Amino acid sequence: MSITDPMAAALDSCLSIRQGVLHLEDVSLVDLAARFGTPLYVVSEGQLRRNARAFRAAFAAAWTEGPVRILPSIKANFSLALRRILTDEELGCDTFGAGELHAALRSGVPPELISVNGTAKDRGLIERAVSKGAKITLDSAVEIDLVRKVARDLGMQAVVRVRLRPDYQGLDQPSEFYAGSLTVAQAAARYKPGIPLEDLIPAGREALHAPELQIRGVMAHLGRHSADLAVWRRMAASIADVVAILQEAWDGWMPQEIDLGGGFAVPRDPFGRAHGRENAPPAPAIPEYAEAMASGLRQGLLDRGLSPIGIALEVEPGRAMYGNTGVHLAAVRNIKEQSRPFSWRWVETDTSDVFLLDTVLEGNRWIVVPAGAADAPPTQQADIVGLSCGFDVIVGQASVPALTPGDILAFLDTGAYQDASANNFNALPRPATVLVSGERAETIKRRETLDDVFSRDVIPPRLDSLP
Ligand SMILES: Cc1ncc(COP(=O)(O)O)c(C=O)c1O
Repeated sequence: MSITDPMAAALDSCLSIRQGVLHLEDVSLVDLAARFGTPLYVVSEGQLRRNARAFRAAFAAAWTEGPVRILPSIKANFSLALRRILTDEELGCDTFGAGELHAALRSGVPPELISVNGTAKDRGLIERAVSKGAKITLDSAVEIDLVRKVARDLGMQAVVRVRLRPDYQGLDQPSEFYAGSLTVAQAAARYKPGIPLEDLIPAGREALHAPELQIRGVMAHLGRHSADLAVWRRMAASIADVVAILQEAWDGWMPQEIDLGGGFAVPRDPFGRAHGRENAPPAPAIPEYAEAMASGLRQGLLDRGLSPIGIALEVEPGRAMYGNTGVHLAAVRNIKEQSRPFSWRWVETDTSDVFLLDTVLEGNRWIVVPAGAADAPPTQQADIVGLSCGFDVIVGQASVPALTPGDILAFLDTGAYQDASANNFNALPRPATVLVSGERAETIKRRETLDDVFSRDVIPPRLDSLP
């Protein structure tokens, strides 16, 4: 798919082509590369704000039974400046571990809108969460005891939700995470988070009346297994199944809030397109996800004789909040061709799949656009490759116009997870991130230096003194 493809151009409004040059908001990406250098992550503030508002509006329209809270998953992009924008948009935050809790608090997220999620939380994290008033999403029976102890020691009440392991029986669609070798139900049953029901029922019943604990609600996160809305409807209804079991086992307890997690696809949905999903359609729109999940939950509760009235609905979009806000820029360094044993062409760039890790982890196929000739028709096929020593095929057999060294390439939809998971393989310093707002462009994360890359190294004196 190229930028001139209607699907590529239509789905967000931060990108445009002006006199052949790709712009993000009102900034030429060719000029931006010249000014800040490459490789470079670039993020549109306008698109991030539009995404925030679209999620809030869509879920508020679909769920009228109670409040709606959007808790974007900060793991997708833990840049503090981006999180300040989402805080300004009055959104909450899903966090994992001490680092992400720190980022959320540091960027001004109100603690009551923070969920502290994650496996095997330690005492330090729980103490910080309880003392700040953040909600803890419990992941094991052991954690229930630990949180109670910490709250008692601090003389405070901890607000918690329990992470569920719903039975997704009937979700027999293929999981796109496993390229179709497992169904969604099978894949979800192997996914580690959540408290097994056989532990949750007795541990929760015991904790329900503890003065140091308030069990406020339930949470589950399916993930990006499928963009099929039937999956999402059923997923939400499965939560109602567990709520009904808990309601009965816990003497009529009902959640005040139900958090359905994230996993919504990025609009152009690069996910898995390099591995068998080449011709998948674009993702459902946010209002379609909202309608499917709200109606599944509502109907699920009503079918079990439970009232949805007053229950707050929460969701935790990660990729769908940040993905289409970002573009990754790289410069072409060299073009290499062979004629034997078969003809092949490589466009060698100054970036790498270690900075676009979902190329490898999730089989993403990026839309790649020559930023200076964004509407030029493709004339050739080439592997767009990176500079690490691995295969480093960032886009295999891309259709591109003729390219020359120095040309700038823009990889679309790279705002979620790419900076967050970039690593230093081959001792490569990680790229900077620039925030674009209208005509303004500001560094929000500086480029790493070689000193940064080696800053954790220690050579014991006995080795340093070797000749
Ligand atoms: C608990 C939780 N919530 C939300 C998300 C965000 O998922 P996505 O980026 O697919 O929307 C994740 C991702 O792993 C998660 O673990």
